[in-house]
Amino acid sequence: MAKISPSAVCQQMLCVESPAPPCVFIVFGASGDLTKRKLIPALANLFKRGLLDNGFLFLGCGRKKLSNEDLRKIAAEATKDFLAESEKFLSSFFYVSGDYDDKNLYNEIQNTLVELDKKYGKNFGRIFYLALPPAMYPDVVENLGQAGLNKNEESFARLVVEKPFGKDLASATELNDCISKWFSEKQLYRIDHYLGKETVQNIMMFRFANSIFEPIWNRNYIDHIQITIAESIGIESRGSYYDKSGALRDMFVNHMLSMLSLVAMEPPPSFDAEHIRDEKIKLLRSIRPFSLDPCNEDIVRGQYAQGIADGKNIPAYRQEADVDKNSKTETYIATRLFVDNWRWQSVPFYLRTGKRLAQRVTEIAVIFKKVPHLMFASAGIEDLPANVLVLKIQPKEGINLSFEAKRPGAKMCIGTLEMDFNYTEVFGAELPDAYQRLLLDCTTGDQTLFTRIDDVKLAWGLIDNVLKNWQQNDAEPYFYPAGGESFSQADALIQKDGRNWRKISET
Ligand code: BG6
Repeated sequence: MAKISPSAVCQQMLCVESPAPPCVFIVFGASGDLTKRKLIPALANLFKRGLLDNGFLFLGCGRKKLSNEDLRKIAAEATKDFLAESEKFLSSFFYVSGDYDDKNLYNEIQNTLVELDKKYGKNFGRIFYLALPPAMYPDVVENLGQAGLNKNEESFARLVVEKPFGKDLASATELNDCISKWFSEKQLYRIDHYLGKETVQNIMMFRFANSIFEPIWNRNYIDHIQITIAESIGIESRGSYYDKSGALRDMFVNHMLSMLSLVAMEPPPSFDAEHIRDEKIKLLRSIRPFSLDPCNEDIVRGQYAQGIADGKNIPAYRQEADVDKNSKTETYIATRLFVDNWRWQSVPFYLRTGKRLAQRVTEIAVIFKKVPHLMFASAGIEDLPANVLVLKIQPKEGINLSFEAKRPGAKMCIGTLEMDFNYTEVFGAELPDAYQRLLLDCTTGDQTLFTRIDDVKLAWGLIDNVLKNWQQNDAEPYFYPAGGESFSQADALIQKDGRNWRKISET
């Protein structure tokens, strides 16, 4: 029996965490931004938590001519704020340099891996991580395959790829065909880092480890659901990638649909990876195709114009570096969609995501139906707000439930109260970054939080027509001021149904 904090009564805590087996991460793009900002810190944290104690190595690969020592300096810099006494961790870092299309690089990787196995007397499982622009995936995979690195008789060989997995259905299928020539679906780990977030995983625990929510989790009790990923940041230094991508490809097809699947899918028979992924697929299959009828605007796209945030002047998207000065790329998207199955028939799901908005907020809000009969009407109360359950993903991770209650004093006095659970207050520590979860799962061979190919194809299939339609019409997006809350066309999408977006700045 563990008491976690004075504010939370926890009868018991059931924690199961399997440590990694002996493994080596072979990271392509080892001196790049993703490696420094995400991969090395995540590995350092797993190391600190003792989850890499069975043996861990890092073999960096890249075009830059670096020595083992240079890479260790990079790793030391990336972990200096939280990993003291890091000698043992840093001594696990090695580096080989070469061109990604040069077969010699792969022979050298093969030889180095054999030597490292010998040196440490272990058969390390091999995890090839492509922290590279996606255009380079086919070449690297082909070379890995031709060098025989896709197999590891003594242990395992796995491949991790970052999003985006393609830019539409055809290119995702083509990329998958290239990869599956050498790596099976069981060896392939497609990252959607949102699935690694603690609070996104909590959606499953919340729904399926409690019996009180599931009976009301359907069209009989839920009026609608809003999913929001609002970002206050812009595109940072990623103009050349983002301008070809846009919010639909960058956020909707992966992160937003993943959250929607978890919140709306049927209960899987077990916590087994395939059972969960099967349910996500069933859900994606039930999403009604978007109407392309312009009178029935179910997808609204916007682009940030010049504006002011925190008292600072923010340039328009079109003024950002590496962005076309006449770009029509969307930095905001709002959609209304329906899930055609028994549970969700006629319940609208409103999804929105945008850059340079008033605040950073990611949340799923479940808005319940109002009471069917207002028995307080005779006492002058003509309307009552609906109950709202908010699964707060970031920045303040937690759960909030609003409900009506009597206020003390006058006989007839009702007000809205909130039950608020905040992860950091209850569990103290900061939540582990998504990459810790995902890298550990990859070492243990747990694919639950990785995207399966049928998921990828269904998701692209859903937006393919929308993308084509935008391209053919070549229309301008709507413009919204940077630092703003919303804009009239995005508001109209939900207001035409007699509903309103939740305020970003108040959540
Ligand atoms: C990435 C997108 O996948 O997710 C970025 O490419 C976006 O554009 C980021 O900013 C948001 O992730 P997070 O974890 O900061 O919400």
